Amino acid sequence: MSSGSAASGELGLTLALETSCDDTCAAVIDGSGRILSSVIHSQDVIHEKYGGVVPEVASRAHAERATVVLREALAEAGAGMADLEAVAATVGPGLIGALLVGFHTAKAIAWGRRLPFMPVNHLHGHLGAVWLADEQVPLPLLALIVSGGHTMLVRADGRREFQLLGQTLDDAAGEAFDKGARLLGLGYPGGKELDQLAERGDPQAFTFPIALRGQDTLDFSFSGVKTALFYLLRDMTAEERVARAADVAASYREAVVEALVGRLMRAAEREQVSAVAIGGGVAANSLLRRRVTAEAQAAGLHAVIPPFRLCTDNAAMIASAARYSPRLAFPAYLSVEATSSLRLGEEVG
Ligand code: KG4
Ligand code: ZN
Repeated sequence: MSSGSAASGELGLTLALETSCDDTCAAVIDGSGRILSSVIHSQDVIHEKYGGVVPEVASRAHAERATVVLREALAEAGAGMADLEAVAATVGPGLIGALLVGFHTAKAIAWGRRLPFMPVNHLHGHLGAVWLADEQVPLPLLALIVSGGHTMLVRADGRREFQLLGQTLDDAAGEAFDKGARLLGLGYPGGKELDQLAERGDPQAFTFPIALRGQDTLDFSFSGVKTALFYLLRDMTAEERVARAADVAASYREAVVEALVGRLMRAAEREQVSAVAIGGGVAANSLLRRRVTAEAQAAGLHAVIPPFRLCTDNAAMIASAARYSPRLAFPAYLSVEATSSLRLGEEVG
């Protein structure tokens, strides 16, 4: 912690903002970590026509919505600015222009009332969702954080003690789903649509490669499975592509989920942890949720499967992680800046 850290101890109402990518989010939690409100404004419809997040467009959309989302979060919590005792915001990693909007809005609110301010690492936020979902989760814990930007296996020995055990060597798991969805002609971002289509298909219909399987590594690779999907679809007729779409989606999802769960359970055994957890947008995947629940149970491990609204980006998880992040007193935080690159375990302030 910096010399500007405010006194530790319980805080009352905390407002948190999250704008690291394409969701404008605000939330209020109370001193015991209870969520009073969590408002998420997705920009999916804005970026859909580009087929991906356009950073400058995302920043502008955040700037247009930040105040509205923030007011909504306060109203839903039945709170006013005067009731807040602390403010938090995502400091990184993420798109710098997008981050700056939420970070400076939050800092200005804290500054106006001389409140303590907590800069939160977005990756710690995804772990914060685990604490929100299960306050009593036993440690050590092994978390699989899977989103559009990240695929990580994290060992947590405390709420601030993290160790990166494995990560993707190429595409993130969310990208694997989104690119697969695009090849199948589904919507944007596509992970959810592919998941829904896969529910109706046969996961054994086609065999997709699972990279690094059987190797002594906890890393992941998804470029091969995506390429295999490209060639499978290329060699089908237009009629086959339609008729077999659900089977293709189910088989593809099976390979991606098997890679994720296989590595998670292997790491859990190696690390002798007490619990496993999933987080990040891909943790909304229905097969991943079922498989982690079943395999953890079979291994006698406690499993934390957070509700959907805590898996995709949200500010409640940032407020949760803020309880275990540097707490900066006024005016120390005025010179603290958002940063696009921040690694797991790194804190700012
Ligand atoms: O954590 P998140 O909201 O944003 C970041 O990327 O940080 O994750 C979004 C990702 C997207 O790739 C989206 O397609 C994926 O999560 N996703 C899913 C599902 N729901 C969202 N992937 C697979 N199955 C789902 N049901
Ligand atoms: Zn995220």
